[in-house]
Amino acid sequence: MKKRKTGQVKKMNDNKDITILAIESSCDETAAAVVRNGREVLSNVISSQIDIHTLFGGVVPEIASRKHIEKVNQVIEQALKDADTTLDDIDAVAVTYGPGLVGALLVGVAEAKAIAFAKNKPLVGVHHIEGHVCANFIEHKDLEPPFLCLIVSGGHTHLVVMEDYGKFRILGRTRDDAAGEAFDKVARAIGLGYPGGPKIDRCAREGNPDAIVFPHAKVEGSPYDFSFSGLKSAVLNYINQARMRGEEVNHADLAASFQKTVVDILTDHAIRAAKEFGYDRIVLAGGVASNTALRAGLAAACEKEGLKFCYPSPIYCTDNAAMIGAAGYYEYKNGVRSGWDLNAVPNLKLGER
Ligand code: KG4
Ligand code: ZN
Repeated sequence: MKKRKTGQVKKMNDNKDITILAIESSCDETAAAVVRNGREVLSNVISSQIDIHTLFGGVVPEIASRKHIEKVNQVIEQALKDADTTLDDIDAVAVTYGPGLVGALLVGVAEAKAIAFAKNKPLVGVHHIEGHVCANFIEHKDLEPPFLCLIVSGGHTHLVVMEDYGKFRILGRTRDDAAGEAFDKVARAIGLGYPGGPKIDRCAREGNPDAIVFPHAKVEGSPYDFSFSGLKSAVLNYINQARMRGEEVNHADLAASFQKTVVDILTDHAIRAAKEFGYDRIVLAGGVASNTALRAGLAAACEKEGLKFCYPSPIYCTDNAAMIGAAGYYEYKNGVRSGWDLNAVPNLKLGER
């Protein structure tokens, strides 16, 4: 197979079905999927490492890499079997090559390169966050760019316009902690454990979201940027002050009030951007998109403003390979091919190749 430079673009015009084997290993899920034409998921296998990382209160990069090596072949074999297909029948191999943990990413990238080389198939490197956005194509068949998307994950909080397939304009991003990171840190402080997001979500259901008023940080001169570290510190201060006074903290009220603050900030930014830039729909993506209060808050705000709103099912919000297959398909259709020099890029920026 001819060697091509990463990111080289070659236009294609044919309309035949394209089946992609996708691999994702950027953090603590080893995942493989088979996706047809970017929107039809033939299989979606996820092997989660949560149990082992829970013992350490967070993801341990060395352990993550080792577990990916142990699981990656098994997960791919299962994905092919579930899709009732073989490597010979796939048209391309798509793989997350950044951002993420370098050792974890390298396992998926090396695996994808080996398969593509051995089977003489095109290789397509995919941006993890682009994958999260494209997860929405799987269940919302009418969704086409351009649209406004709020991406909230463990490592990223971005407000973007997907202008076209593979083309993004960033309106705002977090200056410090990502939304999911804030959830995880607050959960640890309350003693709920890892991963914090789903635990806060559950705990908050029993609490009063108006019990404690936390600050809404604004980033001077950047109306669509976010900052969550001040909020996290305010929660930690609240807990410390209560401890010093010998008072018991109501965890459910604290979780609900923290969560409401995050939801209000995210919702305010997204609605303002939709109005200012004239988008009629808000699309939600990333691990935190599973949050029930965020879904409900954005749904209510969108309804009030006459905007459409969509988000993926929880299985496509969490890290998965089906979303990489969706994004990989559009990159493939745009003629993007990765060379054998494809490497893991831990800090890959959205829209960068
Ligand atoms: O997108 P993701 O699976 O991984 C990254 O790309 O970072 O996001 C993981 C993040 C974690 O911080 C996790 O706590 C958060 O998503 N998360 C949630 C919920 N489910 C997962 N946060 C709030 N509420 C949830 N239900
Ligand atoms: Zn992710």
